Amino acid sequence: MGSLARNIKPNRNIVEEEHNLKCERCGNIYDYYKFSNGQVFKHGCDCKMIEAGKEAEKKRKQQAINNIFNQSNVNASLKDATVNNYQPQNEAQDKAKKTAVEYVKSFSVKQPKSLILQGSYGTGKSHLAYAIAKAIKNQGYSVAFMHIPMLMDRIKATYNKNAGETTDELVNLLSNIDLLVLDDMGVENTEHTLNKLFSIVDNRVGKNNIFTTNFSNKELNQNVSWQRINSRMKHNARTVKVIGDDYRERGAW
Ligand SMILES: Nc1ncnc2c1ncn2[C@@H]1O[C@H](COP(=O)(O)OP(=O)(O)OP(=O)(O)O)[C@@H](O)[C@H]1O
Ligand SMILES: [Mg+2]
Ligand SMILES: [Zn+2]
Repeated sequence: MGSLARNIKPNRNIVEEEHNLKCERCGNIYDYYKFSNGQVFKHGCDCKMIEAGKEAEKKRKQQAINNIFNQSNVNASLKDATVNNYQPQNEAQDKAKKTAVEYVKSFSVKQPKSLILQGSYGTGKSHLAYAIAKAIKNQGYSVAFMHIPMLMDRIKATYNKNAGETTDELVNLLSNIDLLVLDDMGVENTEHTLNKLFSIVDNRVGKNNIFTTNFSNKELNQNVSWQRINSRMKHNARTVKVIGDDYRERGAW
């Protein structure tokens, strides 16, 4: 063993050496060498390797989470949205913000819950939903934010024979992540969209979801297709009405 250590560090002298020690951490028997430059080498101890493996696993997981989040379909105007920079304009919006904070704080994969942000244009529903999505992603969960029209285009693109992703890949992504945001439920109302939305929300029952919608309760129940979708959305869900003026028109003259 002494010759092995000498081979590894040919330019340095061994100043201390002990054999057949037991590492308390990994449980291995190892030989200990200290070199003239102060460096220590424990031949046979796997602690460093185990540590490096853990580090690599952490990196790999973070990479996977980033990859998933980067598959979001989100409008550029929302990129900087955070819960903190949401400025409530009325009591309903104040309540919506508090609910968002609570959702982030209490997020759990074991006890999933859904949130329906319902209200008129430009009240910050997508802002809050995207802010929550980012915060949960930063906690290390797999999250995607999907703007329905962009998602529908993407689903249609998978029907193409030369598509970059298959329908199954996209369905798996949507089904398996820890949190799915479906932004702007109701903005697309074709039969194809309703069929797709139904299978997505049906797959998401019992998971963490956030929905934003301009639809009123009446519109969410306008026909059997919507009733079926709506009943899935409502599973374990809290509905928050986000009312107010269109924030986009603020500052307009
Ligand atoms: N209370 C707010 N404080 C700060 N920014 C806001 C607020 N409300 C809206 N915004 C900003 O205004 C823009 C429009 O908001 P957002 O897209 O969230 O509205 P929305 O309720 O989703 O509207 P729509 O129903 O049309 O989808 C976004 O850029 C958002 O960041
Ligand atoms: Mg929106
Ligand atoms: Zn060890």
